[in-house]
Amino acid sequence: MATTAPVRLLDKAGGIDVPFFDWKALYEERSDDYRRIIHETASKGGFILQAAVETFERKLAAYLGAKHAIGLSDCTNAMLLGLRASGVQRGDEIILPGHAFIAAAQAIHFAGCIPVPVDLDEEDGWLVDPEAVRAAITPQTRGIMAVHVNGRVCAMGALKAIADEHGLEIYEDAAQALGARLDGRAAGTFGRWAAFSFYPSKTLGCFGDGGALVTNDDDVAAVVRAMRNHGAGFDKTISPDCAVWGTNARLDNIQAAILEYKLGWYEQTIERRRAIARRYSDAFSGIRAIELPPEPESDRRHFDIFQNYEIRCHCRDALRQHLESRGIGTIEQWGGVPIHRFRGLGFTQHLPRTDRFFEGALLLPMNHLLGEDQVDAIIGAVQDLFN
Ligand SMILES: Cc1ncc(COP(=O)(O)O)c(C=O)c1O
Repeated sequence: MATTAPVRLLDKAGGIDVPFFDWKALYEERSDDYRRIIHETASKGGFILQAAVETFERKLAAYLGAKHAIGLSDCTNAMLLGLRASGVQRGDEIILPGHAFIAAAQAIHFAGCIPVPVDLDEEDGWLVDPEAVRAAITPQTRGIMAVHVNGRVCAMGALKAIADEHGLEIYEDAAQALGARLDGRAAGTFGRWAAFSFYPSKTLGCFGDGGALVTNDDDVAAVVRAMRNHGAGFDKTISPDCAVWGTNARLDNIQAAILEYKLGWYEQTIERRRAIARRYSDAFSGIRAIELPPEPESDRRHFDIFQNYEIRCHCRDALRQHLESRGIGTIEQWGGVPIHRFRGLGFTQHLPRTDRFFEGALLLPMNHLLGEDQVDAIIGAVQDLFN
């Protein structure tokens, strides 16, 4: 298996530059293998809905312990098709956390429903607060969209109890949580369906857009399979009896072949991320100005995959500038804007805990391509500021 070490850049002070995400290194890391896979797939002349898609779907479903996985164009469309296949009605309300990507709210909107963002649980990695969900339920509420942000599974037991009590459905935005577990159960297997993203910077990323819907529900699976391909099945024939309004939301073959290959060593990817999280936790736990996400071994019930390493810091902007001066890139997740702050989209909610979280939130570099020297540089730079 050919691997190529990513190129290291030196910054002006002779230290190591650490971009927030090194996009080119994604391809360079195993470029010989990627070239071979792309060549093998393309030279067969089958680009759309051929064997590579089915093989990846089978392996993804097996990896998660789910009955069906359906390769789709991206996670946002996976959520949209999942909602439509679940029979949501115009005006239904779907509750989701304020700490989420606007994509989930957009899918809810385009399914004809109303996204209702609610506040966070600061004790649980700033994920959705089940009590805030309960308080937001109205006669129009149809479901709860659990968003497993940063690769940590939400409090699914409490959410399921509330959903059962009120006759609601649970859907999962698992874009950031492939392989994350709660009590041994994989993110993506708790609700009626779950959506995953294979955007390049995701823990399992392809070389473009990609996504999947995962479900144990045979009816949802059959409808989403048809919807992704204009109402047709794998053979592209649209029966005159077709009763499903479809669209084009297919995962293409080359991306599926790349994803299948990467799934083969996915555990290594996650282990590297968890090792980096352990190093950050050890190094920063004594710094009072910083609040850290839960440490990988801190809670036996959770297996977090660290799609991101999101900290909170009361002097966030100063920390950002300091790291930038050392050649270290950071970002504010989703541009620092929580869902309910998109007032132009009609949101009127006040979510004080979400606002407080976003005021200090910052993503440190976190991906399997980071070398130990880069992690050292990040740790050293943070410690220099606070010591
Ligand atoms: C939590 C979350 N939901 C949804 C999405 C949307 O995924 P995609 O770009 O595949 O549509 C993302 C991607 O960044 C995400 O992080």
